[in-house]
Amino acid sequence: MGVIVETNELTKAYRGRYAVQRVNLTVREGSVFGLLGPNGAGKTTLLKLLLGLLHPTSGQVRLFGEPWSRAHLARVGALIETPALYGHLTGRENLEVHRRLLNLPKARIDEVLHIVGLADVDERKRASQYSLGMKQRLGIAIALLNRPRLLILDELGRGTSTFDGLSIAWAVTEYIHDPQRLGCKALLATHYHELCRLEELLPGVKNYSVAVQEKGDEVVFLRKIVRGGSDRSYGIHVARLAGLPPEVVHRAREVLLSLESQEGAGQGEGPAPGRRPHPYRQLALFEPQSHPVLEELRALNILSTTPLEALNLLHRLKEKLSRPGESEGHGQSGPGGR
Ligand SMILES: Nc1ncnc2c1ncn2[C@@H]1O[C@H](COP(=O)(O)OP(=O)(O)OP(=O)(O)O)[C@@H](O)[C@H]1O
Ligand SMILES: [Mg+2]
Repeated sequence: MGVIVETNELTKAYRGRYAVQRVNLTVREGSVFGLLGPNGAGKTTLLKLLLGLLHPTSGQVRLFGEPWSRAHLARVGALIETPALYGHLTGRENLEVHRRLLNLPKARIDEVLHIVGLADVDERKRASQYSLGMKQRLGIAIALLNRPRLLILDELGRGTSTFDGLSIAWAVTEYIHDPQRLGCKALLATHYHELCRLEELLPGVKNYSVAVQEKGDEVVFLRKIVRGGSDRSYGIHVARLAGLPPEVVHRAREVLLSLESQEGAGQGEGPAPGRRPHPYRQLALFEPQSHPVLEELRALNILSTTPLEALNLLHRLKEKLSRPGESEGHGQSGPGGR
């Protein structure tokens, strides 16, 4: 299988400080490449180097088996950070501008609108009136227009709530990976480390992350890309490095600990004696939650339920939720239970 992206000792430094340091990576044809790392780790910088939006301080990039050249970009689709849209034009008109530049058939616009789930949006709505998530989707639609062989998406799902973002990232990754549907190779940069699980589920998915070294309570970014996903979130460390007030960082730790202990209780495990839960593990949003109401919903067969039975069930479930004691200790309340 051919190599689509290759970097050799790729390095970018800003005024002597490394953002990306001596990165060697290989993305082969037919693969989805998940790049994970905390804020400021260098993910966007790496993607910009691949796209020629930044010049490397040293090292080389090869695309489609050849030294980097602008001509390769015709086979690449990309969305880096926020999409550049014409705010006074509608979504369709924004796509039309790019379609004409790329000399593509008109029908392609409906195809990409459908892929990103914007087909039903009010046609009169201007891009400036779109929500952040809709703008991200429109940006992805533009990136998909030319049926790219390489798709580069930075921070997929950002701009939506965490859970929505996670679900969007998951769904899009599955979609682009499926050769029957899109089947191109993608390079993703995302901070949702739950996406690491895709490596177990889909062939060809590979996780890489920005290496981090823990020294006691400190975290040091090593500016290197290593094989494998990160199993932690370093968001709170990053907040401290960014100079957030100590009381805010402290409260964030409390909230995280509280959420984690609720999560443990929800799975009927409880904290092991003498062992505190790790304070920096990110919540596993994909882990099934346990609750009597959820159990009942899971067991329900919708196809054999009449509308009347469904109404009765709804009534019963609502009663169950409002009865004290029924929902305690199942990890459903907010952080700290406040
Ligand atoms: N134009 C610039 N000038 C100086 N430093 C920069 C510049 N752009 C980025 N950096 C620095 O390079 C490092 C990597 O930034 P980058 O945007 O690549 O991180 P990231 O992994 O994409 O983070 P995030 O998850 O927040 O998007 C950061 O320390 C950042 O401050
Ligand atoms: Mg970034």
